[in-house]
Amino acid sequence: MNFFDDALDDQLIVHLNGEFLPLPAARISPLDRGFVFADGVYEVIPAYGGRLLRLQEHLQRLDNSLSGIRMDNPLPHHAWQEMLMELLRRNGNGDQSVYLQVTRGPAFPREHAFPAHPRPTVFAMCTPIRESDPALREAGVPVISHPDIRWDRCDLKTVSLLPAVLMKQLAKDRGAFETLLIRQGLVLEGAASNVFAVLDGVLTTPPKGPFLLPGITRDLVLELAAEHGFPAQERDIPLERLLSADEVWITSSTRAIVPVTRVDEQSIASGRPGPVFAQFHDWYQARLAALRTGEKQ
Ligand code: PDD
Repeated sequence: MNFFDDALDDQLIVHLNGEFLPLPAARISPLDRGFVFADGVYEVIPAYGGRLLRLQEHLQRLDNSLSGIRMDNPLPHHAWQEMLMELLRRNGNGDQSVYLQVTRGPAFPREHAFPAHPRPTVFAMCTPIRESDPALREAGVPVISHPDIRWDRCDLKTVSLLPAVLMKQLAKDRGAFETLLIRQGLVLEGAASNVFAVLDGVLTTPPKGPFLLPGITRDLVLELAAEHGFPAQERDIPLERLLSADEVWITSSTRAIVPVTRVDEQSIASGRPGPVFAQFHDWYQARLAALRTGEKQ
């Protein structure tokens, strides 16, 4: 049985354990602990014009995720860089997001505790980045909120994504774009994004900690605020306060900054994307333009 669309996937070159292969030729063991236990971590790194955005920061976060699940990084940073650039090259460069995954590899018999001599699986692929939709920027998106059903190491980017899968599907079922996750009345992040609010003119995002992923886009947005002298703070945001914000946005590597105009059926301010979003969108695009020309990483 073939699960893939051959016409497309023959052209997609992926990396698996040191080899570059067409997707249909890439095979892993059904006993891989990534498959059996979701015992692994991942990263998603956007590349524009064939250049990886914030590669060092992504590799640093990969190290943190690996050490959080007690694994050594199977590759040094320079080897990751070479491999990912070669992967992009083999897939035509341009604007692509790179997905990479490291698992604790295949092991028999099935046993929860780590194998004595793990043989990690290293996988990477790239996917074209869709142009950001101008309609989405002009209208903004609705989101919903839901109690956070995840564990207390949300700072690790692990492939144990079932809670995020369920939360994203819930959003989709309700015609929303994302689900904001709430703990003790505080908005932490989206199922696959970080959250920002403009509160009395101050750009605000929840502080880093065990209950949210330290997003690379989040840090870049804070850096843009500092660079341009825009007031910003890392502070807890109660859901109640979010609802009365001037603006709300979500951020992620694949979608950049997305304005949120409704939360749980309630309009945010005028119900339209705000001027602070428009300003940061422009600054972000300027940063990507500088990346394309090699001026900034
Ligand atoms: N998700 N929080 C969560 C839970 C995420 O899964 C993501 C990204 C983010 C944003 O992080 P960054 O800016 O580094 O992309 C925050 C990726 C895109 C995914 O799982 O596909």
